[in-house]
Amino acid sequence: MPTPTIGVIGGDGIGPEVTAEALKVVSAAGVAIERVDYDLGAAAYLRTGDVLPGSVLEEMRGLDAILLGAVGPPVGSTEVPPGLLERGLLLKLRFDLDLYVNLRPFAATPTAPAPGLDCAVVRENTEGTYAGEGGFLRRGTPHEVATQGSVNTRFGVERCIRFAFELASTRPRRHLTLVHKTNVLTFAGDLWQRAFDAVGAEFPSVTRAYNHVDATCIYLVEDPGRYDVVVTDNLFGDILTDLAGSLAGGIGLAASANLNPDRTGPSLFEPVHGAAHDIAGTGKANPLAAIRSAAMMLDFLGYPDQAERVTKAVSEYAATSHSDRNTSQVGDDIAGMI
Ligand code: IPM
Ligand code: MN
Repeated sequence: MPTPTIGVIGGDGIGPEVTAEALKVVSAAGVAIERVDYDLGAAAYLRTGDVLPGSVLEEMRGLDAILLGAVGPPVGSTEVPPGLLERGLLLKLRFDLDLYVNLRPFAATPTAPAPGLDCAVVRENTEGTYAGEGGFLRRGTPHEVATQGSVNTRFGVERCIRFAFELASTRPRRHLTLVHKTNVLTFAGDLWQRAFDAVGAEFPSVTRAYNHVDATCIYLVEDPGRYDVVVTDNLFGDILTDLAGSLAGGIGLAASANLNPDRTGPSLFEPVHGAAHDIAGTGKANPLAAIRSAAMMLDFLGYPDQAERVTKAVSEYAATSHSDRNTSQVGDDIAGMI
């Protein structure tokens, strides 16, 4: 296989530290990569005044994958306006590279709050309330109006749902749950439900369920074993995956893949957690989420055996406490288990 070219955005805070461990493990798994570093994030923005230059985005289209650590300013800092990096970098990459699936697997550790949780959430990643539809009227006046609509195209919803059915059909339990709020969001919910039923008819081997998003929060805590694959919209997926991450043993373990399943460009792999400036440079950052995200990258790039070995090592390692090991020692430990 030709050596894949990986764009590396270490980013801010603990981002570069956890990314270094992820790359260490990729190398230990025997996969050679061509690495191209991109200096992006809050610090880069403050230095250059640019969040994501157009020429950089264009160059990235030619990569095989992107590995991202974390981007964002320290909590409480006011130098970077809220939303600037989120919309200008993370969401820009998700939208412009058409990363329409955000895949987040959860396999709970034995001591996690929800030890029975073993599921994958397929989050629609380019539409919904994240699309940026809306605006202000009379901003700053007593009569101001702010709207923030939810964009749901049949095309966008259907392709995400189809990915979820395909994924579910490859897993032992072959079960897919649609999570929405069809009882209140009657327009978007109706479109999602109809698309779910129509695509579901193409996958007779996959059993289907529907849960409202609020009830899903209860079930995730009280009956997590009911979930195999979950498919949901962008905002519900954002919220549910923080909950699932915490229930599965902590956000330090939660990995994600922003996928362009059509492979018209690179997909992006990142831990669910943020830049955690408070522990940057202390060696306390847990690199397991970044390492697991890198395993998802290997799988998507066509190295399923190596990916499996890394994922298995992370699961085994996470089953016991390693609070005495620092960030780079954890990377060494996992590398030694591959
Ligand atoms: C995530 C994050 C992002 C999101 C933010 C940082 C834009 O919370 O990846 O879950 O809301 O999708
Ligand atoms: Mn989130």
